[in-house]
Amino acid sequence: MARPAARYVCQACGASHAKWSGRCEACGAWNSITEEAPRESLPRDTGGKGGRKLAFVGLTGATEAPERRLTGIAELDRVTGGGLVPGSAVLIGGDPGIGKSTLLLQAVAALAGGSEGGARCLYISGEEAVEQIRMRARRLGVVDRPVGLAAATSVRDIVASLDDAVAPDVVVVDSIQTMYVDVLDSAPGTVAQVRASAAELIRLAKRRGFTLLLVGHVTKEGTIAGPRVLEHMVDTVLYFEGERGHQFRILRAVKNRFGPTDEIGVFEMTERGLTEVPNPSALFLAERRGNVTGSVVFPGIEGTRPVLVEIQALVSPSPPGTPRRAVVGWDSARLAMVLAVLEARCGLALTGYDVYLNVAGGLRISEPAADLAVAAALVSSRSNVPVPDSMVVFGEIGLSGEIRAVAQEELRLKEAAKLGFAEAALPPRRQRRAGILGIRTREVAHLQDLIALLAAAGHEGRSEAAQRPSGH
Ligand code: TYD
Ligand code: MG
Repeated sequence: MARPAARYVCQACGASHAKWSGRCEACGAWNSITEEAPRESLPRDTGGKGGRKLAFVGLTGATEAPERRLTGIAELDRVTGGGLVPGSAVLIGGDPGIGKSTLLLQAVAALAGGSEGGARCLYISGEEAVEQIRMRARRLGVVDRPVGLAAATSVRDIVASLDDAVAPDVVVVDSIQTMYVDVLDSAPGTVAQVRASAAELIRLAKRRGFTLLLVGHVTKEGTIAGPRVLEHMVDTVLYFEGERGHQFRILRAVKNRFGPTDEIGVFEMTERGLTEVPNPSALFLAERRGNVTGSVVFPGIEGTRPVLVEIQALVSPSPPGTPRRAVVGWDSARLAMVLAVLEARCGLALTGYDVYLNVAGGLRISEPAADLAVAAALVSSRSNVPVPDSMVVFGEIGLSGEIRAVAQEELRLKEAAKLGFAEAALPPRRQRRAGILGIRTREVAHLQDLIALLAAAGHEGRSEAAQRPSGH
């Protein structure tokens, strides 16, 4: 019998190829393809004879909402769509060091609660020794909680321990990249091992009805299989993000079979673990200094929640050569588009300038609604005129420079009003409820209108300053 051909699997995206190459055609990653042992070929006759007949049912019928277990950490409960669902698998992905282990230890400690009535929680770590986890628990002030700890990496051992007379309620496996099933030759962390280990654990979670919380490291180089290869296997995928050096952490749902996606939870990393941030707008604007050129407040929507963030731009003459374009927290292709429209449709010269764009606080924005705020920040920095302190800016920019309407306008304006903003530059709209909560709306139909608006505001600002008595 012919030997089954070897498979070459991309460790970044999991695509398999017939031969090795330096670059994965499926995801574009470099040097990510490694040889893996061929999969046992399936026997020919897999269907038809001997199968059980399915009983098909109609679309209507009694369905029960899934039972939920609240962690008591409100930001986590929000992101999961109202608590953990028994028998489901949740993947928590994120960069190493972002706080995944901290969050999950806090979550199981909260679930386990005091003496009785709490959930039966287990924390299995393949990365850290028991003593290290205990140290973290001391730091978090949760040593008295009845959480079962174990350091293990063998899926066979873990399954044997969990498939006991009394099944646990919630199990953390930290991280899936350290787990291995002994029937495969490949090393822990490869796509084959990560998938096989996860499949085994998920199957057990479904059968025994516990919630499985899997930690997955996101890896830049693609040498180790990242959470991407697991996304389709689990019920819920949460990503834990944040900029290094910032204390804010954002937990984002990117897939959820039991709730909405795009919901975020905001946390702050403190000396004693992660604390919840119930009012993110105030937090993201906390360090904002008014009357600075290049700074604009954007009322964004994250999931169901409005979040005000500061967008900062710095436009400065560049030395000869290619000008720099550096972006943190926004899409660089989108920035290129806004720059091109400013240049081509508004005659704003930007070619000889370096451009830096930053979303303050470490948030990542993906909404096109931020276009206009980005443009305002750029124009403000380039022309050296601050955007009025009391103004928020939002709207999508089209290629001809027109400003387009965006969703959830009222929610954005309400949040802005709540935080004391008095005016908003926004897209024109035929019918608009006049004077939403005292916010003065300044419609801009074209990017040029925005430039004119900012210039006028700059004049007002300057003449006001001139009228003010000196010494202030
Ligand atoms: P950790 O949860 O170990 O990250 P991950 O599991 O995602 O790799 O947390 C990493 C960082 O958080 C670490 O650098 C220390 C910091 N930290 C705090 O600032 N305060 C705390 O209370 C804890 C437990 C950790
Ligand atoms: Mg960890």
